Amino acid sequence: MKRCALIFTTIVFGSFVAGAAVAQQKAQAKLSAEAARGKYLVQIAGCNDCHTPGYATSGGKVEEKLWLTGDQLGWRGPWGTTYSSNLRLRVKDMTAEQFVTVARSKLRPPMPWFNMRDMSDRDVKAIYAYLKLLGPAGQPAPQYVPPDKTPSGPFVQFPATPK
Ligand code: HEC
Repeated sequence: MKRCALIFTTIVFGSFVAGAAVAQQKAQAKLSAEAARGKYLVQIAGCNDCHTPGYATSGGKVEEKLWLTGDQLGWRGPWGTTYSSNLRLRVKDMTAEQFVTVARSKLRPPMPWFNMRDMSDRDVKAIYAYLKLLGPAGQPAPQYVPPDKTPSGPFVQFPATPK
């Protein structure tokens, strides 16, 4: 009788553990499907062009482990000098909802914030999932420099915006 109970307990507990493992696998599979979609979106929406050093100039030949780690190259124009943020560090302590809020806010040029604004929440969250999958790496991009100051590092100079 005792043995019976033991076997029964083992079966119940065993199937519980197996069930939990399946649930975890499912969550993992969902994450990778979501992250894979995020990666695809990052590639076709051109996020690497600015947020990955050397990506645009090398024709996209940058190892994935360096993707979206930000850039030291400044973009200087009437708005001052901006730097493409290290998105992997940026999302480190952020929830998906907080990232959606950032994606809905107005940013300085040449960030095409209006493109990101028009993405669905689902797409923005997929990009977030991909950034989380890549994990934190690299250094933060340099700080924004106001228009009246000259940046110390390399920068691209934009002409004044035509009126
Ligand atoms: C033409 C260059 C360029 C492209 C393309 C670009 N970005 Fe940016 N991005 C920037 C710059 C520059 C900034 C900093 C803007 C500022 O200082 O206000 C920025 C800022 C951001 C921020 C805000 C980060 C922060 O520190 O708060 C997010 C999020 C972001 N970009 C995501 C994306 C995503 C996702 C894509 C692809 C859909 C993308 N960017 C494409 C240049 C670019």
